[in-house]
Amino acid sequence: MRVVVTGGAGFIGSALCRYLVTECGWQVLNIDKLTYAADQRSLAAIEGAPGYRFMQADIADGDKIARILDEFKPDAIMHLAAESHVDRSIDGPGDFIETNIVGTYRLLDAALYYWRGLAPDRQQNFRFLHVSTDEVYGSLGAQGLFDENSRYQPNSPYSASKASSDHLVRAWHHTYGLPVLISNCSNNYGPFQFPEKFIPLMILNAMAGRKLPVYGDGHNIRDWLHVNDHVAALRLIVQHGQVGETYNVGGRNEARNIDIVHQVISHVRDLSPHRTLPKDDALIEFVQDRPGHDRRYAIDATKLENRLGWQAQYDLDRGLRDTVAWYLNHEQWWQPILDRKYQGQRLGVA
Ligand code: NAD
Ligand code: DAU
Repeated sequence: MRVVVTGGAGFIGSALCRYLVTECGWQVLNIDKLTYAADQRSLAAIEGAPGYRFMQADIADGDKIARILDEFKPDAIMHLAAESHVDRSIDGPGDFIETNIVGTYRLLDAALYYWRGLAPDRQQNFRFLHVSTDEVYGSLGAQGLFDENSRYQPNSPYSASKASSDHLVRAWHHTYGLPVLISNCSNNYGPFQFPEKFIPLMILNAMAGRKLPVYGDGHNIRDWLHVNDHVAALRLIVQHGQVGETYNVGGRNEARNIDIVHQVISHVRDLSPHRTLPKDDALIEFVQDRPGHDRRYAIDATKLENRLGWQAQYDLDRGLRDTVAWYLNHEQWWQPILDRKYQGQRLGVA
């Protein structure tokens, strides 16, 4: 199988490229603009592999994308390129509109042009998988789960831009017949995640004995999905999903933010006993809440489990411990990011 992965130098995209090339033996062309969130070092494991190629390009550059598709002739496009951090979308929504909405539109148009030029059998088998988020569904109360029929109620500039892109993808199927699939997943965690996100930020701060900033009362709930479980789901969806349908992906691992923080500190203590860390209460700092902070996300992944046979392999405690161990052992990956790109400062206070 020949696939274009967009955003393959980011956190999930790089895990997907590594998985498709090494575990599945697919031919992968990674298209990435290389924004601040990209890191080619996350792809070192497949650099030089015969099944892997990289092209630097902006998905909003429709002509360039069209030329790349024409030359590579993919069987599928797996679209992950996006601005992905909610706090940055609060500080500056412009890039989110440009990439997540306009960029997705240009990519869809290039994909449609390419798809129309394919021979009938290849046209029949072609797939465009759009990777989206559970945040398009808004916020849950104490009960209930998001499923594929949940109403769209995005609350942040980020989630509104992802919701818009979902609607465009859906429209390109209904209007033009492009064979699309959409996946909406919950919060990912695992190795190679940029330290602006909650779990890696908490790990690196705990390791350094710095304060761990918890937004609001820390009772917001996220449903954590290990990135390895996510990429396995994406492979199943692109190969066996029903054209035109949506699949929700979630690990059935709900946790309050404050409980994650205690778990992270405990794993750091356990895995590096030579560190002397202050007590949890001295490390944790409750800070001003995120504006419009969604209270709870939780995914019902029954459709994916029953129809495509997917099952999450990681429970949160094991996944978190492995992730803490990975950051403890990969200072050479994260230290240059802290030196050059992001120093852990608070974002998104508006
Ligand atoms: P990320 O921020 O780590 O990586 C995004 C990648 O996209 C980067 O490599 C960046 O350079 C690239 N990119 C950005 N703008 C681009 C453009 N205009 N053209 C080409 N490349 C561009 O993001 P991530 O966490 O890996 O998320 C990947 C996808 O999954 C996103 O679409 C995101 O909305 C979605 N998602 C993420 C999560 C999560 O928890 N991280 C959960 C649900 C959905
Ligand atoms: O649900 C899927 C979404 O998960 C993805 O679509 C997004 O791309 C991804 O970034 C993530 O969004 P969140 O806003 O949920 O993730 P973030 O890591 O920014 O925050 C997770 C929770 O932790 C959230 O409730 C805010 C809180 N938080 C975050 C940071 C960075 C803190 O309490 N302190 C922090 O310093």
